[in-house]
Amino acid sequence: MSALPPLYLATAAEAVVKAGDIMMTRFGGELRVDKKGTIDLVTEVDIAVERMFRALVAERFPDHAVLGEEFGGSSVPAGACWIFDPIDGTTNFAHGVPIFCASLALEIDGVIEVGAVYDPTRRELFTAERGRGAFLNGRPLRVSATRELIDALLVTGFPYNVHDRVEEIVGLFGKFIGKARAVRRLGSAAIDLCYVAAGRMDGFWEGDLKAWDLAAGALLVEEAGGRATNLSGRPFRAHDGQVLATNGLLHEVMLEVIDGHYGRGRPI
Ligand code: IPD
Ligand code: CA
Ligand code: CA
Repeated sequence: MSALPPLYLATAAEAVVKAGDIMMTRFGGELRVDKKGTIDLVTEVDIAVERMFRALVAERFPDHAVLGEEFGGSSVPAGACWIFDPIDGTTNFAHGVPIFCASLALEIDGVIEVGAVYDPTRRELFTAERGRGAFLNGRPLRVSATRELIDALLVTGFPYNVHDRVEEIVGLFGKFIGKARAVRRLGSAAIDLCYVAAGRMDGFWEGDLKAWDLAAGALLVEEAGGRATNLSGRPFRAHDGQVLATNGLLHEVMLEVIDGHYGRGRPI
């Protein structure tokens, strides 16, 4: 495997830390908050962070594509694309809850090669490069060794169309509550994935996400020795918008619970 230019991972890390600095200058203060949907918020800080990030990529890599939550764009089948969520956990951020981050991945020829996630309230920088491991503030990460669901701490999230799917989503949530030690809902998919990578959580599932929620964190999980698939157990693809990410040991048993809820052969 040929090494990537070191500037890629360095830029990813620099961008998410800068994003976190912008968030912290505004966190807890007066904010302009708009609605993209009934319960889907965007703050002026989401916009400011994404502008900073786009300027950085345009300056350093003018021929690279960008896909970001607030200004869009599209991924490219060949070449490099930076996939960016300026604030993952916007609802928390807007309400003054300190669980949010910036998440950035670099996709090259359709493969996620680099990921960086920064949680500015805890000053935790999660980074990964494909084939080279996952790190938290420079220290190597490893998923948990939990083998039984009854000993597992799980985490999930609810998508913005949850109002139309309450029974389905809460039904699956309930099934895991009935089998695991505990289930959390933090409000940031990228942090959820990083916590699986760090061995703090044993498994995470969510459907109806976007590539910018998933790309960096799923690479972290895989590079920390865990496993990521879609909710049917098929190979993970960030653009499919769904994930089951575990320490690997709990993957099959979690898939069985999901299969038991939706039935096998569902069209995902
Ligand atoms: C959301 C968060 C949340 C998840 C939602 C996402 P946003 O992203 O990751 O945890 O449950 O599905 O859309 O809107 O805060 O960037
Ligand atoms: Ca997000
Ligand atoms: Ca966001």
